[in-house]
Amino acid sequence: MKHIFKEGTDLTSTTLLLLHGTGGTEQDLLPLAERVDSQANVLSVRGNINENGMFRYFKRLSPGVFDEADLKFRTHELNDFLNDAAKEYGFDRNKIIAIGYSNGANIAGSLLFHYSNVLKGAILHHPMVPLRGLELPDLSDTPIFIGAGTNDPICASEESEELEHLLSDAGADVTLHWENHGHQLSGTEVDAAATWYKANKNRLNQ
Ligand code: MLT
Repeated sequence: MKHIFKEGTDLTSTTLLLLHGTGGTEQDLLPLAERVDSQANVLSVRGNINENGMFRYFKRLSPGVFDEADLKFRTHELNDFLNDAAKEYGFDRNKIIAIGYSNGANIAGSLLFHYSNVLKGAILHHPMVPLRGLELPDLSDTPIFIGAGTNDPICASEESEELEHLLSDAGADVTLHWENHGHQLSGTEVDAAATWYKANKNRLNQ
């Protein structure tokens, strides 16, 4: 997958996996990584799907309606890519923390829905429930930050709460942060995610 890898101050420590929103690129979330943990390695990946010139991580049938077969295929593809990238660059596969926005948060959520120990933690900005009817793996001790909007037209408040419950029921330690905005990623939400990361740094960087 097309990507950027930037080595941090300690290759054996945390790697931030950056996953952009629909229509974005691997450049978009680099400032967020800098804000959250400027010392971490950064692996920023471009989605493999090109929807009328907009990059995404999996196909959709219509806005908000996912092509589930493709979502599953792309989730496995991304997991394989992470395994390969860890070998290629020499970072620790067990110390990846995802930061995703919108479509990128949805594929990060799908990774968590499919595999145990796939991510050490995750910051999900405006995620949806990626799939329903799956039995989730054990996510014990996985700290997860969800940033949601009370007026998000793409993800209703109930869906943010449903995702929180699904992840919590699988054992994850979920913090649900609300902004009185829509689907956009605000500076205060990024600040809240950075504060959460710092408060959980010892667990996240173990
Ligand atoms: C998706 O397709 O993943 C969601 O609808 C969010 C987005 O618009 O990308």
